[in-house]
Amino acid sequence: MLCIEITVPGGPEVLQEVEREDPAPGPGDVLIRVEAAGGNRPDVLQRRGRYPVPPGASDIPGLEVAGTVAALGEGVEGWRIGDRLCALVAGGGYATLCVAPAPQCLPAPSALDFIGAAALPETFFTVWTNVFDRGRLQAGESALFHGGSSGIGTTAIQLAVSRGARVLATAGSDEKCRACEALGAERAINYRTDDFAEVVKDLTGGRGVDLILDMVGGDYFARNIASLATDGRLVEIGMMGGGMSATIDLGDVLRRRLTITGSTLRPRTVGEKGRIAAALRREIWPLIEEGRVKPVIYRTFPLHEAAAAHRMMESSEHVGKIVLVIGGSARRGTV
Ligand SMILES: NC(=O)c1ccc[n+]([C@@H]2O[C@H](COP(=O)([O-])OP(=O)(O)OC[C@H]3O[C@@H](n4cnc5c(N)ncnc54)[C@H](OP(=O)(O)O)[C@@H]3O)[C@@H](O)[C@H]2O)c1
Repeated sequence: MLCIEITVPGGPEVLQEVEREDPAPGPGDVLIRVEAAGGNRPDVLQRRGRYPVPPGASDIPGLEVAGTVAALGEGVEGWRIGDRLCALVAGGGYATLCVAPAPQCLPAPSALDFIGAAALPETFFTVWTNVFDRGRLQAGESALFHGGSSGIGTTAIQLAVSRGARVLATAGSDEKCRACEALGAERAINYRTDDFAEVVKDLTGGRGVDLILDMVGGDYFARNIASLATDGRLVEIGMMGGGMSATIDLGDVLRRRLTITGSTLRPRTVGEKGRIAAALRREIWPLIEEGRVKPVIYRTFPLHEAAAAHRMMESSEHVGKIVLVIGGSARRGTV
């Protein structure tokens, strides 16, 4: 197969296309002929050497793919050769073939092409488990999503709105803020020109929001705590701002009964990921089929231009997802 290797930790130029032996599906696995692979910020962290590969996972970057079933491992039921699917993987997505545990595979929605389907797993699994499982967001509640224009943010806005929540977001430019509002956010706040905590206070009549999904960390922490309502939940999923530690007034936690939590998706067990997949299939896949929820695709690149895809991701110019196109037109060199 063809794949992208991280030759040494470093800049985008360390991503090199190489040939490797085809992988074989183990018991319970599906071998996928990959048509498209989503790009995610954790791929950039892995490339820089700051996100170690979990034990047993492929060292090839790429956490999500879409394509067709090429072969089935022992004991896999419910899939046939040639079925269209997408999958969350712990690595190995930037390749023409990829192995995924069967519980982490979902049908590629018929409403989407492979590019759209490849843009689903990483952000939809992450948003589901953090916003609805850990964050317990309910219809009628309010949420603040930082990084509203990111792959995660564009997914979170749509899923929360579709389930009846009131959504606020932050983003780094007025243009990105308008994109968040077009996806259903009631108001997006340009964090470069406005203090989000002040705006949230104004927009909620001083009450605060029920849930905050944060990917910035550091100096956002105190303002996040100040922006939570009584019984509010703060869910940490990233540290784009660089700060790994923060100080908290525990009195706030006691008085307002706050919950502070967080998670990472990649090291979780196949069983846990399978439970998230089942919830997505039941609750969210119908909304995608109805066209009420869509992945936001900013740009595609052919596999051999993975370095250009990473450069774009690091520039943060994008709104939504950057996807590597691997099969079909990419093989013919027309992407
Ligand atoms: N815990 C998990 O399980 C999990 C899973 C997947 C992703 N993540 C994390 O979620 C985050 C988003 O991932 P993604 O793939 O959706 O990324 P992405 O599309 O590349 O977006 C990252 C966004 O972060 C914003 N940003 C960057 N630096 C910032 C700063 N200092 N302050 C505020 N905003 C900043 C950028 O928007 P602006 O232009 O608005 O600054 C950019 O749109 C990353 O931190 C990633 O590591 C966590």
